[in-house]
Amino acid sequence: MPFDAFRELRQRCPVAWHPYKDGPGFLALTGYDEVLAVSRDSATWSSQTAGVFFDVPSPADEFQLSLMMLTMDPPRHTKLRALVSKGFTPRRVARLGDHVADMARAIVDDVAERGECDFVTDVAGALPSYVIAELLGIPLEDGRRLYQLTEIMNSGSVGDAVQTQAIDAQLQMFAYGTELAARKRSDPADDIATALLNAEVDGERLTDLEFNMFFLLLINAGGDTTRNLVAAGILALMDHPDQQARLVADPSLLPTAIEEMLRWTSPVTVFVRTATTDTELRDIPVKAGDRAAMFYPSANRDENHFDDPDRFDVGRAPNAHLAFGGGGTHFCLGANLARVEASAIIPEVLARLKDLELAGPVERVRSNLMNGIHSMPVKFTAVAPTSAR
Ligand code: HEM
Repeated sequence: MPFDAFRELRQRCPVAWHPYKDGPGFLALTGYDEVLAVSRDSATWSSQTAGVFFDVPSPADEFQLSLMMLTMDPPRHTKLRALVSKGFTPRRVARLGDHVADMARAIVDDVAERGECDFVTDVAGALPSYVIAELLGIPLEDGRRLYQLTEIMNSGSVGDAVQTQAIDAQLQMFAYGTELAARKRSDPADDIATALLNAEVDGERLTDLEFNMFFLLLINAGGDTTRNLVAAGILALMDHPDQQARLVADPSLLPTAIEEMLRWTSPVTVFVRTATTDTELRDIPVKAGDRAAMFYPSANRDENHFDDPDRFDVGRAPNAHLAFGGGGTHFCLGANLARVEASAIIPEVLARLKDLELAGPVERVRSNLMNGIHSMPVKFTAVAPTSAR
């Protein structure tokens, strides 16, 4: 993450034109206030006009924008969000929380005796994929497979060969979603997939295509991000042994430590919006159709909002980071679930994988959307698993 460049931009030009490929480019928003303002004004800043990624969909693909919640504008977005929130109630998330602790223990058990593992694949990535499988009511192994497809999809913006693989992965996800909807219709169960298929808002239900797009969004938004939080969060603790010792000595710091990991690691790099009307940002005129990219990792190091922002502090409070977005209609639907997952797995890792240290180079995810770690070999003192599996 180019933190030095972000710092310079924040200080010299927090709203700056940036060229992009052959197009007109975009306004790079690196300051906290602008990210917040744009996030909270979906009337002026559309997610649907040209999507939320750097690349604008081709006319042939444009119709997809009106089908996925992340790239929809109100009023349709409001309706759909109300609908999917029904499958995502705090009660359902809380109930899942009981299982999450067991899953976290089992995941650490699987590696404890080995004394080494790839932390990303074996630990950080395992939990969100199991949790989403549990949410959707599908076998845990299917959750793992869908998670692998997610990573292929998210590296799709670099190079043609990778792009083809990404499309193929998306098609496989789609096929799975279609089959899942059919299965849950004929064999309903107490899971979010069934709840989503049955939920009604103003007498309307999700269409098949909408279900599929939401399924894709859920796997995509909920898997990689949480994995990156846990992996990069543990890396931050290894890089700051004083903070790790502080957290181990005082577990009551866990909630602030997780918020600090969110701020520090900012698992999502950027989402883009398009101006629907002429406006301005920091006195810079913006024309309807201009695009603005919100760089969350930069906003999360804004010195006007965080004391000593380049210090990793597990006790930091207040900590109004923007890792889940700047509020507004698209604020992360899974924020609490991600917190539940991190609160389950991080203490388990710290308590059981003693003397944890890197055993090889950390390989980052190649993506301009996700700020993540692809692989992180670690070693630790081997111990016997605690629970009967
Ligand atoms: C550390 C983990 C996570 C991070 C950092 C994260 C981050 C984000 C961000 C930045 C947004 C866009 C916010 C905006 O545009 O204002 C978002 C939206 C979303 N997230 Fe998350 N997320 C995480 C985990 C999850 C999980 C676990 C789920 C579900 C299982 C989830 C589901 C969603 C959905 C459905 C949206 C779209 C909401 C909408 O458009 O209305 N996320 N997330």
